[in-house]
Amino acid sequence: MPLDLLVIGSGVAGLSAAVRAAELHGMAVGVLTKGELDQATTRWAQGGVAAVLAEDPDSTDLHLADTLAAGAGLCDADAVRVLVDEGPGRVHELIALGAIFDRDEHGRLELAREGGHSLPRVVHAGGAATGAEIERALVAAVRSSAAVLHEHTFALDILVEDGRCRGVRALAPDGLVVEIHALHVLIATGGAGQLFSVTTNPDEATGDGVAMALRAAVAVADVEFVQFHPTALHHPAMPRPLLSEALRGHGAKVLDTTGKRFVDELLPRDEVSRAMARRMLELGVDHLWLDATGLENFEQRFPTIAAELSRVGLDPTRDWLPIAPAAHYLCGGIVTDLDGASSLPGLWAAGEVACSGVHGANRLASNSLLEGMVFAFRVVEAIERGKQCPDATGAMRAVLDGDPAESGVIGGRAVPGWARPAPLLIDGAEAGGRVDLGEVKARIQRTMTMGAGVLRSEASLREALGQLEVVERELGAQGGVALAENRNLIEVGRGLMLAALARRESRGAHTRIDYPETDDSSFRCRLVLA
Ligand code: FAD
Ligand code: SIN
Repeated sequence: MPLDLLVIGSGVAGLSAAVRAAELHGMAVGVLTKGELDQATTRWAQGGVAAVLAEDPDSTDLHLADTLAAGAGLCDADAVRVLVDEGPGRVHELIALGAIFDRDEHGRLELAREGGHSLPRVVHAGGAATGAEIERALVAAVRSSAAVLHEHTFALDILVEDGRCRGVRALAPDGLVVEIHALHVLIATGGAGQLFSVTTNPDEATGDGVAMALRAAVAVADVEFVQFHPTALHHPAMPRPLLSEALRGHGAKVLDTTGKRFVDELLPRDEVSRAMARRMLELGVDHLWLDATGLENFEQRFPTIAAELSRVGLDPTRDWLPIAPAAHYLCGGIVTDLDGASSLPGLWAAGEVACSGVHGANRLASNSLLEGMVFAFRVVEAIERGKQCPDATGAMRAVLDGDPAESGVIGGRAVPGWARPAPLLIDGAEAGGRVDLGEVKARIQRTMTMGAGVLRSEASLREALGQLEVVERELGAQGGVALAENRNLIEVGRGLMLAALARRESRGAHTRIDYPETDDSSFRCRLVLA
C-alpha cells in the first residue's frame, strides 16, 4: 500500500507537515531524511521567527510591507499576505506543541528587531538558539506520531508515472536503491548553501530537492537570488559560525578596518552584505569588524553565541569580532502555488526548497522558519481537501500564465540555455576509483564563489560555467551519497548561473557589477528553469 504522504526532509517544513498530517488527519505518513531526524538547517537557526504576536504599534500590514520592501519587487503579494496572516497561528500551535520561546518577567514573549523590520517582532528561544528548540519540539512530536521514519536514507529522484509523482527512488542505509511509493510527496529538503566555499549552512544543504525537481522537469525559479548573511564570523570553521542579525538589532555596529561605520546595519541583509563586499574590495581585505562591545548583558541574552566566541578566544564585551558575508539562504526553488503544489501533480514543496513567492529577490530576516510552518500546514490541508493540481496563485502564476492584467502578478520567462539534466544513476557503492569526491566538492564551491558570489558579472559567470563543465566531465560515475550530492550541486549551480547571466540587472540578492541598475521594464519577472 502506498503511503498517503511521503515527506522528504526533517527540518521545520517537513516535520510540521508530518505532525499535522499524521496527528490531525490520521494520514499514513512517511518521513525520509538523509541523516538523523534532527539533522537539518532548522536546528542551526538563531535569531528567531518573525510574526506579529503583539498588537499596536505592530500589525500584519507592516510585516507585509517590510517583506515586500526586502523582496525588491519580486514578492507575490498574496503569498506574503498568507504568510503574515497565518504565521501567528502557526507560532501559537508550535508553542502548544511544547516549543519554549523566551519571555520577559511578565510572561510576555520577548520581541527582537532584525534588519529590514520596522519594529521588533522576532520571537526567539534560548537567546539565539531558536532553531534548536523548534527542531526539538517537532522531532519529539514526530517520534510519537504515526509517521514511518526512514533515517539515513537519501532521496535520489522523483518517480513519475502517467504525468504524476508516485514516490521517490532512494539510497537506503544498506546501500541498496529502493522505491518508496506514496499518493503525495512533499519535498522539504532545504537550501543549497554548500554550493559556496564560505557558508553558514550545514553539510546537508546540497540543493538535492531542487536538483530532483530539475531532473523531473518540475518548474524551478528565482534561484539566482542567493542571500549572503553579512555577519558570519571570519574563522576557518565550516559552516561559518553565525553572529545573529539580532546583535545588530540590539545595536552592534559594522566597522571597516579603520574603525569607520559605512552602512546602516538595520537595512535588509542583501544591502548590508553588498556594502561590505564593496568595502572589502576597496580596502583589499578579507574581513571587517562587528563591534558588539556596547551591548548590555551579552552573555545572558545570547548565551550560545557567547559560548561559540569563547571557544575561539573572543570576548564580545572587549573584542571587535571579525566578520565577512557567507552564503546563507536560497530565495528561489521549486515553484509552488499558495498551497505548496508544484507543477507536477502529486508533488508538493515547502520551506527553503520552495519558491512560494514569499521572498522575491531577497528574504526578510526570520521569515524562513515562518514560511516553513505556514506552507507545510497549507500543503496538508490541500491534500486533505483532495486538491490534485496547482492553480495560478503565488509564484505558480509565473508558470501557469496568471492574468498579467491583475495588479501584482509577476510573470515568468524561460532561462536561455537551460537543458533538463539526465536522471541520477547511482549504483549505491561508495566512491571508488581515482576521483576524490571531497576535492570535487571543494572545486565546485570555489567555482561558484568566484563566479556567482555577492558581486557577479557576465565574465565571472561565463568563466565559472566553463569550469563547472570541466568538473562535471571529471566526475566519475561511481559512488553513493557523495557523488549524488556533487551532481546535485553541479546541476543547481548551473541553473543558478544561467539565470544569473540572463538577469541583466541588479535586484535584491543578485548584484551584477556590469548591470548595476534595477530594470523593471525587462526583469520584473521570474526566471524559470523547467
Ligand atoms: P531544512 O531545515 O534545511 O531541512 C531539510 C531536511 O532535508 C534536512 O533534514 C536534510 O537532511 C533533508 N534532506 C536534504 N536533502 C535530502 C535528500 N536528498 N534525501 C533525504 N533528505 C534530504 N531562518 C529564520 O527564519 N530565522 C532564523 O533565525 C534563522 N537563522 C538561521 C541561522 C543559520 C546559521 C542558518 C544556516 C539559517 C538560518 N535561517 C533562519 C534559515 C532557516 O534556518 C532555514 O531556511 C530553514 O530552517 C529551512 O527549513 P526547511 O525545513 O526548509 O529545511
Ligand atoms: C540570524 O539570526 O541572523 C539569521 C536570521 C535569518 O536567517 O533569518
